[in-house]
Amino acid sequence: MIPEEKVREVAERISIVDVVSDYVQLRRSGANFQGLCPFHAEKTPSFNVNPAREIFHCFGCGAGGNAFSFIMRIEGLSFPESLKLMARKAGVEIEERQLTPIEKQAQSDRQTFQRINELASDFYRETLRVRPDGAAVRSYLANRAIADEIAEAYKLGAAPDRGDALVQHLKAAGIDLELALKLGVVRKSERGWYDQFRNRLMIPIRDAKGVTIAFAGRVLDSSLPKYINSPESPLYHKSAVLFGLDMALPSIRTENAVIIVEGYFDHLALFRAGVRNVVATCGTALTSTHAGLIKRHAEKAYLLFDSDNAGQKATIRSMELFLEQRLPAYVITLPAGDDPDTYLAANPVEAFADRREKARPAFEYFVRSLLAETPADSVDSKVRVIDELQPRFKKITDPVERDLYEKEICRLLDITVHSFRKRMGGMSLSGRDLTGRQNQAVRTGDQTQETLLKLLINYPEARDEVRRTGIDGLFEGEYLELARLVLDRLHDDDTVHALHQLPDNAAEPGVKMLLSRLLVSDAHIADIDWRIAFDNCLRSREKRAIVSIRDIAAQLARLEPDSPEYSALLQEADALRTRKAKIQP
Ligand code: GTP
Ligand code: MN
Repeated sequence: MIPEEKVREVAERISIVDVVSDYVQLRRSGANFQGLCPFHAEKTPSFNVNPAREIFHCFGCGAGGNAFSFIMRIEGLSFPESLKLMARKAGVEIEERQLTPIEKQAQSDRQTFQRINELASDFYRETLRVRPDGAAVRSYLANRAIADEIAEAYKLGAAPDRGDALVQHLKAAGIDLELALKLGVVRKSERGWYDQFRNRLMIPIRDAKGVTIAFAGRVLDSSLPKYINSPESPLYHKSAVLFGLDMALPSIRTENAVIIVEGYFDHLALFRAGVRNVVATCGTALTSTHAGLIKRHAEKAYLLFDSDNAGQKATIRSMELFLEQRLPAYVITLPAGDDPDTYLAANPVEAFADRREKARPAFEYFVRSLLAETPADSVDSKVRVIDELQPRFKKITDPVERDLYEKEICRLLDITVHSFRKRMGGMSLSGRDLTGRQNQAVRTGDQTQETLLKLLINYPEARDEVRRTGIDGLFEGEYLELARLVLDRLHDDDTVHALHQLPDNAAEPGVKMLLSRLLVSDAHIADIDWRIAFDNCLRSREKRAIVSIRDIAAQLARLEPDSPEYSALLQEADALRTRKAKIQP
């Protein structure tokens, strides 16, 4: 753990403008600096840096935060890593806490583990390159048209068809074989030590930094199992590793998108064709850890799985993970029977690029495959389809998107929106949709709530006022969360430090984005009479509340009084009335 004072010291010594200027050409514009956003492709600058607040925000893609989050994102580093990097730049020394003996042992084991994998990787590589017992793998690669540069880029290797070649190699290097056993590269029987991988093509699996953490070994013929992978070990957790990420990172950054494939050879085929923003899972289904990792690096995911049944299931499962992560996912489809390897062997890369262009949103793909499986030609089958759709549909958080899909689904099923919603369990009227409405407000920007928030950020008096009169009824959804955070974290003695730390304290990405947006666009709120602005905001809130109550009354009239939707709406109306009463004391 790095102490909080250190974070503060580093933050105080560096300026966000200097940090960002290493990556982006900035130009002064009013209270901000502007430039072309490094996190998405754009031609006119919508990327803003506010030096007084020490924060950045892009109006184009929503990226935002402080100097630390900028470095984390652009360098793909964790918080401690980016802190260390900036500390070096700022000339601040960070002394790590003393390690306990157990931690020291773990660290030194880790170094030995890495060394074992390096020794093994070099051994397999040398075997492939020059040794006589690498001949079988050499001709296998030649058959699959894998040139030397590709083999070198992946550090491919060959495991000899002998019992203990690697064992001997590790022994000669003075390695404790018990540790090599933990990594799964060697094994032990009564008759002694022997190699785990024999007569296989060796594919090193590396982490994002390029450290070899495991191996996959492919057979050279059609025998089974096709692959043997290193077991889980202190270095290797397959549910958290994406194969090829280290090679893909530069291209992921420029494309701001990741293509996900299932097989090592799919990865190889795309890489060979010059498509570089690709990662593969290591013989497992995509996990939420994977999805989170992808979200750290890109704003869009392409799923490129086999067109068979298993591939389709994997696509839909992955779609759910990305819906949960709120990362837009698209499906690239290939002709039936093709995988990227066979497709690129028979087609130019431009044809692939065209298919990527035509990738459809994963949810649309899901609806279509569901309908292909269960043609909606009877009431029964329509109901079945909707019931299948329901849990996934509910995960779509973007209200605009939901609206579009709802219309599309109803068109495809030939039903009315009303009956769709009814079957979905009164979603349009339940709490779910209320959040939808709030999200809508956050997306398009609710001017009143935004101004109120800017007042809270800029005027301690406004914060005191709200602390006194209470926050209920003033804000909704993400605005409410942010207002709570501001009241909680900003005090009269607030410094720029407290302010630019705010984005780190916001757990929800939506709240973070909202905050950085407000912080780079509140120059007009400086030096005004906060009281007048504040009262104006309260008045427009009041008007809105009355409109919504009218809205609800109209909806109530159309509902069965004993339905759950009816009581949910009644509760909403009550809440609105209380709020109104608070505004008009
Ligand atoms: P080729 O068929 O040679 O083109 O290889 P591939 O890598 O494309 O393999 P395939 O399409 O059969 O499988 C996709 C992925 O599933 C592989 O890359 C592996 O990660 C995993 N996989 C397939 N077979 C096995 C197996 O027998 N054991 C393990 N552990 N993983 C496997
Ligand atoms: Mn394959």
